[in-house]
Amino acid sequence: MEKILRWGLLGTARINRSLIPPLRSSRRNQLAAVASRSLEKAQEYAREWRIPSAYGSYQALLDDPKIDVVYISLPNHLHVEWALKAAEAGKHVLCEKPIALRTEDVDAMLAASKTHNVHIAEAFMYRHHAQTLKVQELLETGAIGELQTAQGSFLFKLNRPGSYRWEPDQGGGSLWDVGCYPLGYAIMAVGAAPVEVMGWQRIAPSGIDHTFFGQMRFANGVLAQIQSSFALPSFSNMELRGTEGALLIPDPFTPSQRSQFILQREKNHKVRVKGSELYLGEVENMSDVILNGAPARVPLEESRRIVQSLAALHRSAETGQPVKV
Ligand SMILES: NC(=O)c1ccc[n+]([C@@H]2O[C@H](COP(=O)([O-])OP(=O)(O)OC[C@H]3O[C@@H](n4cnc5c(N)ncnc54)[C@H](OP(=O)(O)O)[C@@H]3O)[C@@H](O)[C@H]2O)c1
Repeated sequence: MEKILRWGLLGTARINRSLIPPLRSSRRNQLAAVASRSLEKAQEYAREWRIPSAYGSYQALLDDPKIDVVYISLPNHLHVEWALKAAEAGKHVLCEKPIALRTEDVDAMLAASKTHNVHIAEAFMYRHHAQTLKVQELLETGAIGELQTAQGSFLFKLNRPGSYRWEPDQGGGSLWDVGCYPLGYAIMAVGAAPVEVMGWQRIAPSGIDHTFFGQMRFANGVLAQIQSSFALPSFSNMELRGTEGALLIPDPFTPSQRSQFILQREKNHKVRVKGSELYLGEVENMSDVILNGAPARVPLEESRRIVQSLAALHRSAETGQPVKV
């Protein structure tokens, strides 16, 4: 009989609500525990979500030998610390984006995953959806010729006062929060990190970038532009343009189970895709890697490219100079 992976949640974040249903529906996974900084909060959360065990500290959950995998959905500045502690405790890790705020921290995770023989992955749910897999297939089979440019946006109005997203020392700001989506998409499409970036930002009173605009140049000549915002009406898209056509993707990051995008050649062709529930793919890919040795769809090496590029964009915006990656 195939092993069932027992998961523990570090923290009681809002985003947990998206991961709990796929953990329940997947036959190879089981939600076994939740930890909070307060035992009372953990117990209340466990009752609400019917989770068997509750812990009053994150370390207590890591000390539970029955837990195989932890999901880290803490504020961004805590991802590295708890991913490393989890790896040390022998747990596999699914960590929310951005997995780290510095390239050297991704290197530490790469080393820890080898030393402790655990899988660590960044939770980019859209990367596992059938729509993204179809886009990758079209790029690989030359449907738009040679890729030349990539443009993408993830904009929304952040109306959550008190959120860590407003705090510079907690990894706040629109680029880390949602700029990582169009940037990661461009890096996926090219298959490499950019070699040079230039970024501009608009700063909120708390000091974070509420809006960011970035440009990137890749070694193979591809040029990319991304924008992210906490201050603009909701909008997301990706446009990938090649020598023979384009892919126009109106909902690249949160595709629904029936999504569609445009393949533009001489004419526009609608590409319809039947996908599964958005957060199921990252759970199933974790199980495939851990239980069957399958390749990770978002390997840490790719997370490293994303973190390195985001950090370089920040440096560029701060200095007003282009930055080599
Ligand atoms: N992939 C996606 O679709 C997606 C969507 C949204 C967010 N995210 C990511 O998920 C993570 C969490 O985002 P969220 O909006 O769900 O977070 P949130 O609701 O603000 O929750 C964060 C949790 O972290 C714990 N925590 C520990 N130290 C904290 C501190 N100093 N301040 C505040 N909370 C602290 C808290 O749990 P306890 O009090 O129980 O310990 C809290 O419930 C972020 O990394 C974000 O980028 C991903």
